[in-house]
Amino acid sequence: MKVSHAAPAVFLAVILSACGQNGDGDKKDIEGSTIGIAMPTKSSERWIADGANVKKELEKKGYKTKLVFGEDDPDQQVSQIENLITQGVKALVIAAIDNKSLNNVVQQAADAGIPVIAYDRLILGTKNVDYYASFDNERVGEMQGSYIVKRLGLEDGSRNGPFNIELFAGSNDDNNTRYFFTGAMKILRPYIDKKQLVVESGQTELNRITTLRWDGATAQKRMEDILTAAYKTQRVDAVLSPYDGISIGIISALRSDAYGSKAKPWPVITGQDAELASVKSIISGEQTQTVYKDLRKLAKVSADMVDSALKGKKPPINDTKSYNNRVKIVPAYLLQPVSVDKSNYEKVLVGGGWYTADELK
Ligand code: GAL
Repeated sequence: MKVSHAAPAVFLAVILSACGQNGDGDKKDIEGSTIGIAMPTKSSERWIADGANVKKELEKKGYKTKLVFGEDDPDQQVSQIENLITQGVKALVIAAIDNKSLNNVVQQAADAGIPVIAYDRLILGTKNVDYYASFDNERVGEMQGSYIVKRLGLEDGSRNGPFNIELFAGSNDDNNTRYFFTGAMKILRPYIDKKQLVVESGQTELNRITTLRWDGATAQKRMEDILTAAYKTQRVDAVLSPYDGISIGIISALRSDAYGSKAKPWPVITGQDAELASVKSIISGEQTQTVYKDLRKLAKVSADMVDSALKGKKPPINDTKSYNNRVKIVPAYLLQPVSVDKSNYEKVLVGGGWYTADELK
């Protein structure tokens, strides 16, 4: 069964290369064909929205889709993608769980002439990733870092500190993690060097502050440990959090330690993705900021990339230098993130049609 499926795929690859990367010769074959979409997890609402949005954009272009979610398990994602290839998808849109575990399976895709679009998370260590659709990830980190120094009054010199800050980063197997961290530290490091910001836990290196699979409970545990070990007499004034799900864990740890009271006000807490629970948390004054990324635009860009790759058209690309996956620089389209807090959430999120005012009640 497997063999009879693989054979036409290999044959197709030969045809495709013979007529010059997906030229006009196979238009009939492409129209109405099926595109595989592999998302990392359903445990975060953003990826559910991503799956639905990419599906919708591809269907608008006349494609059929097969959408799978990987439960944050890299092995499961690999076998899901293998299945999609066996089922004869013509292109793949993949948001990786582990950026290095997909090399074999994207090689199988390449052998079958299937273009691969890395969706939001770059796939590393392979030539077999055609395009990358994401946001300016370093800018996301800069927005989080700048928000903290502005909010503490350090940026305009209205206050000098020292303020206590703790640092959290994303999953170490997600390529975005180091971009977010680099961006944030570009802003925060000079203040740490001048001792206007102090990391009482002493944990400032990326490998000490990552959060496997972006898990909120893992972040909560780390925050609890830090509070116990380093904040017996001191107070935390700010927490750099790269993602809303992590912020929720941090807030739980802080709440258990009586933060959110008059004596111990909430620190400045950043985030990312403008997830519903976190926007509500911002409105009620717990989380302070998030970085909103319009996922509808990301879905549209990736659907355009699929369509271009299959029809031999020029894809939407606006960056050809930032994303080296250690084998090649992957041509990318990077969208712009927006910093959101209590002062602008209505304008950006409700005005922009991401949430209705009712949903935020
Ligand atoms: C990253 C993504 C973030 C956030 C995080 C956890 O790859 O860029 O926006 O969603 O994963 O899901």
